[in-house]
Amino acid sequence: MAIKKSRVEGGFSEDAIEGLAKRVEYLEDFRTGVLQMVKELESSEEELASAHRLLKETRDQLVQSSKLAALGELASTLAHELSQPLTIIKGVSQNMIGSFNEGSPDHEKLTLIIHATKKMETVIKHLRIFSRKEEPVMEPVDLNRVIKEAFVMVKGLLTDNSIDVRMDLSPLPRVSGSPVRIEQVIINIVTNARDAMPEGGVLEIETRAEAVNGRPCAGLTINDTGAGIPVENLKRIFDPFFTTKGPGKGTGLGLSISYAIIKEHGGEITVESVPGRGTSFHITIPAIKGTGK
Ligand SMILES: Nc1ncnc2c1ncn2[C@@H]1O[C@H](COP(=O)(O)OP(=O)(O)O)[C@@H](O)[C@H]1O
Ligand SMILES: [Mg+2]
Repeated sequence: MAIKKSRVEGGFSEDAIEGLAKRVEYLEDFRTGVLQMVKELESSEEELASAHRLLKETRDQLVQSSKLAALGELASTLAHELSQPLTIIKGVSQNMIGSFNEGSPDHEKLTLIIHATKKMETVIKHLRIFSRKEEPVMEPVDLNRVIKEAFVMVKGLLTDNSIDVRMDLSPLPRVSGSPVRIEQVIINIVTNARDAMPEGGVLEIETRAEAVNGRPCAGLTINDTGAGIPVENLKRIFDPFFTTKGPGKGTGLGLSISYAIIKEHGGEITVESVPGRGTSFHITIPAIKGTGK
């Protein structure tokens, strides 16, 4: 009834029109409000997603460090417990081998034993790096120089395997580091690249001055054109003892040691890989304060 009353002939009363206009205005405001809310929701969804990503990365790093910490404990015990009996086995075998003619079955057996003990010694030496008892001696290091020195050692390894080496080194800020350990990281990565390119290929080593979260760093990228790493393995390659190489060929320690060494230098090591195309390792180590660009 109330509606009828407010009607005038041929249309709506002014009151009704005003009321409608107000409603339209209100609805417009409401729509803008809803759109705003949707926008905010979208951006908080993005924030949530990036927080989630960050959390996942941190969790992965935590898992990695706790694995390394556990390995550190195990490593120092193992290295200690195994070294002594191993020295005895090696010493006695080396003594005994002199009493047999070269080429005789006993001589061959002892050669095998000595060879095996040498391999075990290498593994023990690797394991020692994990035990916190052996702190590295840190000094100002020019990463380019360490790379050049490491390549004196691995060059033959690469050229023998028809691997073309391309080096592109730029001036870098100095880092605080252990040249021996950084060299070990480079050798580990290059050896893996060699293994991934049995038919030959290209190995690229590139250095650049970089900034990570605003902090000057020395950056190193090592690319290979090898087999690549299947996505299901990417997460595991830094795990101690993870190897896809056959028995006697891989220890699965190279990259976990490299990871530990780079962490020890306050740096980061990441990997990207396309199966069938190749793999790229990227390392950053913070510059000594005051030497960055
Ligand atoms: N450049 C690479 N290309 C392809 N796969 C790689 C590369 N580097 C590492 N990997 C993979 O990561 C695994 C772990 O490497 P690492 O820790 O050095 O142990 P290992 O070389 O003894 O197997 C390798 O077995 C291999 O599957
Ligand atoms: Mg290796």
